[in-house]
Amino acid sequence: MNHGNIRTFGKEGHLIYWGDAVTVLDEKVPDESADLIFADPPYSIGKKFANFHDKWPSEAEYAKWCESWLELCIAKLKPTGSLYVMASTQCAPHLDLFLRERIYIASRIVWHYDSSGVQAKRHFGSMYEPILFCVKDKENYTFNADAIKVKARTGAERNLIDYRKTKPSRYNTEKVPGNVWYFPRVRYRMHEYEDHPTQKPESLLERIILASSNPGDVVLDPFSGTFTTSAVGKRLRRKTIGIDFVKDYIKIGLRRCDIQCVLDDERLLPVEKNVERRNANGILGGANKAKESATSYS
Ligand SMILES: C[S@@+](CC[C@H](N)C(=O)[O-])C[C@H]1O[C@@H](n2cnc3c(N)ncnc32)[C@H](O)[C@@H]1O
Repeated sequence: MNHGNIRTFGKEGHLIYWGDAVTVLDEKVPDESADLIFADPPYSIGKKFANFHDKWPSEAEYAKWCESWLELCIAKLKPTGSLYVMASTQCAPHLDLFLRERIYIASRIVWHYDSSGVQAKRHFGSMYEPILFCVKDKENYTFNADAIKVKARTGAERNLIDYRKTKPSRYNTEKVPGNVWYFPRVRYRMHEYEDHPTQKPESLLERIILASSNPGDVVLDPFSGTFTTSAVGKRLRRKTIGIDFVKDYIKIGLRRCDIQCVLDDERLLPVEKNVERRNANGILGGANKAKESATSYS
């Protein structure tokens, strides 16, 4: 983990800082310079990251830490900028109260996903994560509704007609998504998979970046992990700034964003995946193809 000197890497409008998010935001990022910030912090729930323990001594200390980087994120946003903050279900209400005194919360989004793993037996297991979508100026911010439209079931799939109108007509076939988003989590066999416990799907970042920024805008992620935000931002022709303090994750970012392929004499190689297909009995090749493909993403 890098708590000391900040190391900077960059190529063609894409910057990676290896260092503590609060220090980097404070010392390296000019005020009012980012068009979009996506912040996906550790949740203090004891997740196992490379060499960093995701557990603060108390909820109050965790909340205080969140407030320190949230204040900085708001300062670094342009007056027309947008901030998306991911939060644990437990902490989201606290962050919501803190943020709404400083910035306008335009939507409270639920990212919903399915889970094939072991589920809770004595309560309702958590299948979503809250995302707070905030804008600095509610009268003046980027929102590219046309870029993120999805199929409207009533119009596109069921082909229904609205007979309440004087002249009955078909329902719209497209709509701007509501605030409950379904995107599958990143699984081992997916092309985008990296070795990180809380990697976010490219599809999630694609919707956020398309909606809340334009080509050439600056997109910043203070807790980059596998650098999903930078990778998708780069593909969508945005400028990007990514920060993380764990060396293993900086290595992923440098490779994934094509900034450099060697760090401190080490070649940066993609995850080597086991692509052997075995059936439920562990037998190579597998006789039961249907079962095999149904479980291949677990
Ligand atoms: C929830 S993960 C982000 C995952 C990321 N959105 C992705 O798609 O891969 C949080 C990341 O924040 C990093 N992190 C935690 N505390 C940090 C700090 N103080 N400064 C910089 N990075 C930090 C962790 O190393 C971890 O990779």
